[in-house]
Amino acid sequence: MNKEIERLIDEIDLLQAAPAEEPMRQYYFIKKCRQYVKEISEKLGRPLRAATVTFGCQMNARDSEKLTGILEEIGYVEESVEEKADFVIYNTCTVRENANQRVYGRLGQLNRVKRKNPHMLIGLCGCMMQEPHVVEKLKKSYRFVDLIFGTHNIYKFAEILATRFESERMVIDIWKDTDKIVEDLPSERKYSFKSGVNIMFGCNNFCSYCIVPYVRGRERSRNPRDIIREIETLVADGVKEVMLLGQNVNSYGKTLEEPMSFAELLREVEKIEGLERIRFMTSHPKDLSDELIEVMKTSRKICRHLHLPVQSGSTDILKKMNRRYTKEQYLSLVDRIKTAMPDISLTTDIIVGFPGETEADFQETLDVVQKVRYDSAFTFIYSKRTGTPAAAMENQVPQEVVKDRFDRLLKEVQKIAAEECSKHEGTTQTVLVEQMNEQDDTLVTGRLSNNLLVHFPGTKEMIGQLVDVKLISCKGFYYIGEAVK
Ligand code: 5AD
Ligand code: SF4
Repeated sequence: MNKEIERLIDEIDLLQAAPAEEPMRQYYFIKKCRQYVKEISEKLGRPLRAATVTFGCQMNARDSEKLTGILEEIGYVEESVEEKADFVIYNTCTVRENANQRVYGRLGQLNRVKRKNPHMLIGLCGCMMQEPHVVEKLKKSYRFVDLIFGTHNIYKFAEILATRFESERMVIDIWKDTDKIVEDLPSERKYSFKSGVNIMFGCNNFCSYCIVPYVRGRERSRNPRDIIREIETLVADGVKEVMLLGQNVNSYGKTLEEPMSFAELLREVEKIEGLERIRFMTSHPKDLSDELIEVMKTSRKICRHLHLPVQSGSTDILKKMNRRYTKEQYLSLVDRIKTAMPDISLTTDIIVGFPGETEADFQETLDVVQKVRYDSAFTFIYSKRTGTPAAAMENQVPQEVVKDRFDRLLKEVQKIAAEECSKHEGTTQTVLVEQMNEQDDTLVTGRLSNNLLVHFPGTKEMIGQLVDVKLISCKGFYYIGEAVK
């Protein structure tokens, strides 16, 4: 637990009204919730357990660390099995329809557990809750859910939970948008040695297939001083690697009172002593500047990995997707990046079956994959999201055609990825050790600067350390290595 937050919480007098200012207001509600949790826990004769379940992207993973941090301050013990928890919170994603279906499925199962365990609380938050039709459905058919909030007011978690403890009714608090950024909330990191750091929220790009701008709101950047301060605190607490997070990090700083580019921010982060590795995601190709390429090239800390979603290789489809670059512009950008950093690892996101996609368009995508030679690619079948412009487009591609293209794309992506991966065989590179190997406890698992996974003989004392490892044999997408003394 954070000592400074603890001290501030100690000083709060619950007989007074809740302060109006953040984050003090949330500290007040954390203290209030502590009392409720303590009462229930005394009745049950055991500590209360909470499970945070995360769907979706790195942004959600980071938000979940904040939820877990608040839960821990309130007095819950972390629990990984939902069925055993007294409080379950789902941090949801809605980028593709199947994510929504999974949440409904799991809620159905939890309802059965809750019937046997009436004091159990169920909370829902995240992107899916920003869709009005979802909340309508929950209100009608999922009455057993206790609290619902969205992406804009996640910082109010303790306040919403306190309201639920006091009212015994379903509490719903969803905001349409916000320009507010609340700093200094508790947060519980999943890893002691690496951490995500939000640098901006929201997205202004409105790619025509994407629901993110509707559920995460308008783009807003965090103040660089707050970002640096957070990273300095993390480093003092043992963090060696940070992942700077934003939907489009390349447009960082545009909304600040004193605008600052992403490349300039990186230069500042680089100066932080004790920080060893810097990663970031996601980069939008239309905004990736030559200044950024230069900063990456000369940096000692920025990892040799760039996630550069192409989405499609067809200029026609890219136009309909509102991506604002052509196939040629994308390839020329990749060329500039590879010329500056020949050892860079490039990864991407690709959508197959966007409305109107022809076989010729799909061939363009395959062509880009063959030219760029990605180290890995996330491939997605287009999913129709209500409210986005693409959902209303004609010529939706039949399912069997999409499936066939998807299979062909996946095969090509995997073949190239394996070839690219094998290039490093015999080299010695630095690995940040992340965990014990899940299958074999004589091995540890870590990542190279280029994000490839490596397993090698080691012990748990190595977790969080940077170790030089000789890459002995490539197993397709990962390496088996050996530490060099
Ligand atoms: N259908 C399929 N994939 C999508 N993505 C975003 N919206 C959709 C959609 N409607 C993919 C994009 C994005 C990644 C995070 O998810 O490739 O980069
Ligand atoms: Fe969605 Fe495009 Fe914004 Fe990425 S850049 S979150 S794909 S709208």
